[in-house]
Amino acid sequence: MIAVYPGSFDPITLGHLDVIERGCRLFEQVIVAVLINPLKTPLFTVQQRIEQIRCCTQHLTNLEIDSFDGLTVTYVKNRQAQVLLRGLRVLSDFEYELQMAHTNKSLLPQIETVFLATSNEYSFLSSSLVKEIAKLGGPVSHLVPKNVALDLE
Ligand code: PNS
Repeated sequence: MIAVYPGSFDPITLGHLDVIERGCRLFEQVIVAVLINPLKTPLFTVQQRIEQIRCCTQHLTNLEIDSFDGLTVTYVKNRQAQVLLRGLRVLSDFEYELQMAHTNKSLLPQIETVFLATSNEYSFLSSSLVKEIAKLGGPVSHLVPKNVALDLE
């Protein structure tokens, strides 16, 4: 079974990495798909984000890293994946994630969204908070992979 893990990953955090590693244990293949979103102004380019993810996931042999634009379900269909993988941190994630899962299923009925409960130690973590801390000169090395902490510095 192939699972696609879509997201912005601007940048990848230890919470994302946790979901990726656990996804790789559950599925034959996991594709991390970085969204190219012309409506957002990201801190890192898509190429930089792909490189950041590649650098911290070299131990995972059944992982592929890619980028996509347009609808997630179109990408999932083109890749012949069966599962959409997402992490769930806290209750406030739930409404948005459930709405996305239902919408995606209405667009592509054969797709199943699988949520992994984010490990406890990362349940508070988000890319936006990491960027804010880094901008204000705070430490982030306990929140993101080493290579990303260096990039943020
Ligand atoms: O990491 P993020 O930013 O929370 O990921 C959100 C993402 C990329 C999964 C979502 O915005 C998405 O799927 N965007 C692609 C456009 C799309 O398919 N929209 C309909 C989703 S219901």
